[in-house]
This record gives sequence, C-alpha cells and structure tokens, in this order.
Amino acid sequence: MQTLISSAAIEQRVVEMGRQLTADYEDRSLTVIGVLSGSVIFLADLVRRIERPQQIGFVQASSYRGETTEAGTLTLMLDGLPDVRGRDVLMIDDIFDTGRTLAALQREIQSREPASLKTAVLLWKTARQTVAQGPDYWGFQIPDAFVVGYGLDYAGDYRHLPEIAVLPSEN
Ligand code: IMP
Ligand code: MG
Repeated sequence: MQTLISSAAIEQRVVEMGRQLTADYEDRSLTVIGVLSGSVIFLADLVRRIERPQQIGFVQASSYRGETTEAGTLTLMLDGLPDVRGRDVLMIDDIFDTGRTLAALQREIQSREPASLKTAVLLWKTARQTVAQGPDYWGFQIPDAFVVGYGLDYAGDYRHLPEIAVLPSEN
C-alpha cells in the first residue's frame, strides 16, 4: 500500500493541533467525545497534547459501509455520552468525509445544551463534503481516496497501521 501521510508527519501535526487547542481553550476545561471506533488512536495521541483539564467519553456511529465509499443509513449510539450540559465539548473523529456523521452528532449534542461545541478530525476529504459546515480543527486535507491506518479501517482491518495509507481500488 502507498503511504499518504507518514507516522512522523502525523506525530508532528498532532503536536501542533494540541498546541492550538491548548491555546484556544485557555482557562477552560474540556469534555472530549470520541467517535468509535476510528477516532481512538488519534484521540489517544491528541488528548495527551492538550494541556487542559478534560473528561473523555465516547459515542458510536456506523453507516453500514459494505463497500469502501458508499455510506448507508447512519446509526448513532449515545449510551456512553457523558453529561455535556454547560461544558465545552470537543468532538473527535478520524475523518470528515461527507460530514454526515459529525453533523448528526452535533445536532444530538447541541440539543443537550453544551457551553460550546467544536469538532476536530485528523483528515478532511474536502471534495466529498455534503454538509454546510466543515470541521473546526483538522490535521490534513486529503484528496478523494479511500485511506486506512492510524485508526481508519477497511472492513475492520488496518486500524493499527502507524501511517495513513491509500487502499488500492479493486479495478
Ligand atoms: P462521513 O459521515 O461521510 O463524514 O463519514 C465519516 C466516517 O466514514 C468516518 O468516521 C469513517 O469511519 C468513514 N470513512 C470515510 N472515509 C473513509 C476512508 O477513506 N477510510 C476509512 N473510513 C472512512
Ligand atoms: Mg468512523
């Protein structure tokens, strides 16, 4: 597989994002909400670079992607969502593709009246966006290719790869 973003480049960018978030949330504490399962590796690295008091919780989103790119019905599981009322919430996901997942989660969390709500992703596939608002923080803008590694999977595989790699298309 072809490497798109090396582990060293990811590491460096995560440090920069952590610095930015530390500055932007100065004097505040955070509630970080990771979107399972793709966000876990990025979240684990990023939260350790945000030098602010924080609580961490998780929600689950799945869009029944049998094929690599066609998203089906979006299902959200919010059982693990901590109390967000009056809190500064930062939602973390691996990738912003069409943006439907984060937009739907934002509506759910917004209805619980947080003090603020922002989103952070490692990757942003800008060409595929179908929702009005992009992510507030992102690591890298990438072209429209199916990528795996650093938390991102294809049919459950490749999440453990330390770099972001392009999955070869089948035809
Ligand atoms: P969205 O709702 O279209 O923004 O899709 C977001 C979700 O789709 C992400 O959380 C990923 O789980 C999945 N996804 C989108 N593009 C890719 C990719 O290139 N590789 C792996 N998963 C992807
Ligand atoms: Mg995901």
